[in-house]
Amino acid sequence: MEIKTLIQTAIDALPNSYVPYSQFHVAAALLCKDGTVYTGNNIENASYTPTVCAERCAFFKAVGDGKREFEAIVICGGLHGVITDYCPPCGVCRQVMREFCNPETFKIILAVDKDHYDVYILKELLPQGFGPLNLA
Ligand code: THU
Repeated sequence: MEIKTLIQTAIDALPNSYVPYSQFHVAAALLCKDGTVYTGNNIENASYTPTVCAERCAFFKAVGDGKREFEAIVICGGLHGVITDYCPPCGVCRQVMREFCNPETFKIILAVDKDHYDVYILKELLPQGFGPLNLA
């Protein structure tokens, strides 16, 4: 799948965020190795700590559906759903990616629009990460 298509999928999902407390919308589009795509949004909570980020929402939807192999994720976000800058994943979401993805190949794409995006591999954003093999 083309990166631009994946970016558009994330941007289209941005209104689905449930953000009554921060008004900061985040959306993710997660591409599985079999070609399927799962979107995710941040879902906030009056008790704050149960809030889930868009990236984890996308992963948990996919993993709950039986998916285990992932190619790339696009992330976008902004206050009131207006994207003005890149929206990097929080540390907890990077750790969740580490559970399911190869740090050398999994792509994290931070997008402002279809023509403005940065591509990283997981290892760049989570160096020396603790993963499943550390428990083997
Ligand atoms: N947020 C995400 O959805 N993903 C991130 O990686 C960073 C932060 C959300 C959580 C919260 O709803 C809002 O952004 C402000 O922190």
